Amino acid sequence: MKNRIRHHVNPLSILKEHHFDGFDNLYDIVVDIGAFKGEFIAGLLEQFPEHNYIALEVRARMAQYLRKRFKEYDNVVVFDGDATRNLKNILLPSQKAGAFIREIYVNFPDPWPKKRHNKRRIITKKFLKSTEEWLDPRTTWIFQTDRKDLFDDTVAILDECNYAYEFFDAPPYGVTTDWENAKVTAGQKIYRMRFWVAAPERNVAEDKKSAYENAVAERLAGAVAFVILTVLYWCGTDDGH
Ligand SMILES: C[S@@+](CC[C@H](N)C(=O)[O-])C[C@H]1O[C@@H](n2cnc3c(N)ncnc32)[C@H](O)[C@@H]1O
Repeated sequence: MKNRIRHHVNPLSILKEHHFDGFDNLYDIVVDIGAFKGEFIAGLLEQFPEHNYIALEVRARMAQYLRKRFKEYDNVVVFDGDATRNLKNILLPSQKAGAFIREIYVNFPDPWPKKRHNKRRIITKKFLKSTEEWLDPRTTWIFQTDRKDLFDDTVAILDECNYAYEFFDAPPYGVTTDWENAKVTAGQKIYRMRFWVAAPERNVAEDKKSAYENAVAERLAGAVAFVILTVLYWCGTDDGH
């Protein structure tokens, strides 16, 4: 039988830095940290083709694969390197320009179970604390894992940060990846939560309103106004003749 050896990259040793000015529109942005083969983004794209997507993948060869996979899509960009080093530089310009960072996914991240390797995890206290300072409280992080130890450690980190969280059961929008499917087939339980910067300005009703939805609502209101004005005009014309 062939040995399957999987090499983990130490993200802390990858010092590459990126900056992203943003997309050429203000539609909502969805981020996938550790995008791997891009199946999760592909699943979301089918349901939400109007959103913009940012794939972050530390393994340069996977990032190259992702660029090829999504080369037809103007609304998908891929960055290699350590996501925790680059997140602010990649997202803040868009957020400042008025785009809504809708969701940041951290799906099945490498667990780095040894205590001395914990700092290589994507979600660390240091990283989350740094994001509290600039991230819009309406942005939702989604964290999914089959590792109870990693999940519990992440909850403990959230308890020490200015983040609120809640657990949930089903895959978001029904989208899963081969990775998740393999874990489920092997009988493993999946742990899921969403979290966000705890702040009074996070308004759950407002959450649902994105720049995109507002734009659609505006266009609809414009169309309705046009129809009403046209009807009024023709009624007026009929009266006059
Ligand atoms: C276990 S795989 C999960 C893949 C995918 N998210 C899924 O659910 O199918 C974890 C992925 O995260 C990537 N990764 C690990 N640390 C990272 C970091 N600091 N920045 C970006 N990607 C990272 C790995 O290279 C790998 O592709």
